[in-house]
Formats: sequence, structure tokens, C-alpha cells
Amino acid sequence: MAVFRPECVLVTGGAGFIGSNYLRHMVTAHPNTRFITIDALTYAGNRTNLAGIEGASNFRFVHADITDADAVAQLFAHEPINAVVHFAAESHVDRSIASARSFVHTNVEGTRVLLDAARHAWAQVRRRTCRFHHISTDEVFGALGPEGVFTEETPYAPRSPYAASKAAADHLVRAWSVTHGLPAVITNTSNNYGPYQNPEKLIPLVISRALAGLPVPVYGKGEQVRDWLYVEDHVDALERVLLRGEIGRTYLIGAGQEVRNIDLVEQLLDTVDAQLDRPPQSSRRLITFVTDRPGHDFRYALDCSRMEEELGWTARHAIGGGLEKTVSWYLANTDWIQYAHKKLTQPTT
Ligand SMILES: NC(=O)c1ccc[n+]([C@@H]2O[C@H](COP(=O)([O-])OP(=O)(O)OC[C@H]3O[C@@H](n4cnc5c(N)ncnc54)[C@H](O)[C@@H]3O)[C@@H](O)[C@H]2O)c1
Repeated sequence: MAVFRPECVLVTGGAGFIGSNYLRHMVTAHPNTRFITIDALTYAGNRTNLAGIEGASNFRFVHADITDADAVAQLFAHEPINAVVHFAAESHVDRSIASARSFVHTNVEGTRVLLDAARHAWAQVRRRTCRFHHISTDEVFGALGPEGVFTEETPYAPRSPYAASKAAADHLVRAWSVTHGLPAVITNTSNNYGPYQNPEKLIPLVISRALAGLPVPVYGKGEQVRDWLYVEDHVDALERVLLRGEIGRTYLIGAGQEVRNIDLVEQLLDTVDAQLDRPPQSSRRLITFVTDRPGHDFRYALDCSRMEEELGWTARHAIGGGLEKTVSWYLANTDWIQYAHKKLTQPTT
């Protein structure tokens, strides 16, 4: 399979959790490729997440909104962009339940703007010299019972407003691919965790509340099951898909490590206790069960054999090792937690 060698990659949402982990790796690993990120710096985007690469000669940050068609068109007009890796999104399910407006605006209309910009910019060039990589979630497939896994053929059945907006974006990408011949790939990934994740998400929330000795909320009885993927493993998978993935294909990315929420929270609290030299299991007393999220999906699990067979990828981090690395990072970066918390409560800049 020919390896795709992008000249200039437009990465959307690069100041967020996964986008910043992706850029830190890619900017360093591919010094001859230019990386431009466009990010609106919503409550979830922190430019400090990119501090390590801000000075790199092959990196540029652009503060703009992906729904701003003129700003996006300007980028395509002035930069030799031949790949788009699209992370930018409203990403928190609970917020989408409170109000879906920004989710539809960014996740659906923002994706449409990028697809149209890429389509026009790449109209005269050969299909194999460009690539639109859309980053999506396994939540588009709905929820599983105790058995079974999602495959690339599983019909879409999103259940939360967030998942519905991501499903809509996936459909737009496929439609542009079929109707306009846009060279696109889609990846649908399970729950990520690791450094730089916003403290409103489960794992950093548990760590920061345990540090402060505050109650740790767990939805329902904590029986939901998720497949947790360490973000570095996700980045490794995304790099392979961009460079060697087949146009028109969907790839499912997961760690194959299903854990009940309550077991995850207990393991995480035990890891915090161990790293802070607290008595073993002492933080478990902080667990507080709260009313379940409406429509809370019971279980997600993915068949990732395509990633393994075609791109030689499997997740390298077992959950225990990934949690240890994650807890160490948050303990060493309490300033970052405070800054991200502050941004959560401030209006968008
Ligand atoms: N985190 C996960 O577990 C997970 C799992 C599967 C898929 N995904 C997908 O991966 C992508 C990244 O997720 P994340 O957890 O890093 O999200 P995040 O919320 O941490 O980051 C989102 C980034 O997008 C930016 N952004 C939001 N709206 C924008 C707009 N209109 N214009 C420009 N920038 C905008 C934000 O400022 C932020 O930097 C999303 O598309 C998400 O759906 C995430």
C-alpha cells in the first residue's frame, strides 16, 4: 500500500485534549510536514496544551472558528493544505443534553464548512494526493447489551444529542466522498483518557476531586461499561490511518479493555492513594452515587480487527499502566488542572 506523505496538514481543534496530544507527536515526528491548527479556543481549548511545539518551524496556530467559512477558505487559499484531520467538536455528552445548539453548529455545520472548503481546494488535483480524516466516536452506533461488539457495518443508532451530531457529521463526510469524490477516511474511537483531558470528563474529574478530598460522583450504580483507550495509543492509530489508511474506509479504534465505571473509579482512586502515599483504598469513601444520566448508554465495545490486520495497530497500554501514567501527569500538573477548571467557568474567549 502506498504511503501518503502530506505536505501540509490542517488539524482542527488542536488545542483540545486529543488534538494537542496528536500535534505534539506529529509535529515532532514529521519535521518536513507543515501542521496548521485552527481552534476557536472554547472552554475546552487551551493554547498552553501546545506550549511544547509553539516554537516549531513546521507549526502554526490560527485562532478561528471552523464554522467561519471565510477564515477556513483563507487558510486553503494561502497554505498548501493537502490533508485535513478534523478533531474540532463540542465533545461533552452532558452539555449536549443541557443544550444541543452548539453541538449542531460546530459538529454538523462546522464539518460541512470544512468539507466544502476541501472539495473546492482539491477539485483540480488527483484524489490520492489529498486526504480528509474525520475523527468520530463509537457512540454513533448507539448502545450494546452485555454481549456483542460494534463493527464497521453496524448501523448508526445514536442516542445522545452529542452522538447524533457526530453521526450527522460522519454522514456528511460519506456523502461528500460519494457525491463529490472527496478522498475521506473516518475513524470511530472508544473513550480516551490521558494528559490534557478537560477536568469535566470522568477520569480527570475523579483525579481532581480525589486530590481535593471532594465527593466523586458516579452515575447510577456505575454499571455502564466502556472500552478505555490511552490517548497515545489513539494518536499512534490516527497517524497510521492518515499515512496508510485506505480512502473511503472506516476504521474502528479501541483498546479491547472493557471496564465497568465503578471498577474504573475504584482503580483510579486506589492509584491516586498509592501515588500520594495515602492509606490503601482510603479515597473510595469519596464515591457518591448520583442520579443516572438520561438515556445513558449501557455498553460500548469495538471490533478493531481491521486496524490490526491492515495497519498493524493494537493498543499498547493496559488500563492499569495507562491510569498510573495519567495520575502521575495530573499530580505533576495541578496548575494545569486549576487553569482548565477556571476556563470551564469563564465565557468563551
Ligand atoms: N475524548 C474522547 O474520548 C473521544 C472519543 C472518540 C472521539 N472523540 C472525538 O475526538 C475529537 C476531539 O475530542 P476531545 O476530547 O479532544 O475534545 P475537546 O473538547 O477536548 O477539544 C475540542 C477542541 O475543539 C475546539 N473547538 C470547539 N468548537 C470549535 C469551533 N467551532 N471551531 C474551532 N475549534 C473548535 C475547542 O476549542 C477544543 O480545543 C472530537 O471530534 C470528539 O468527538 C473523542
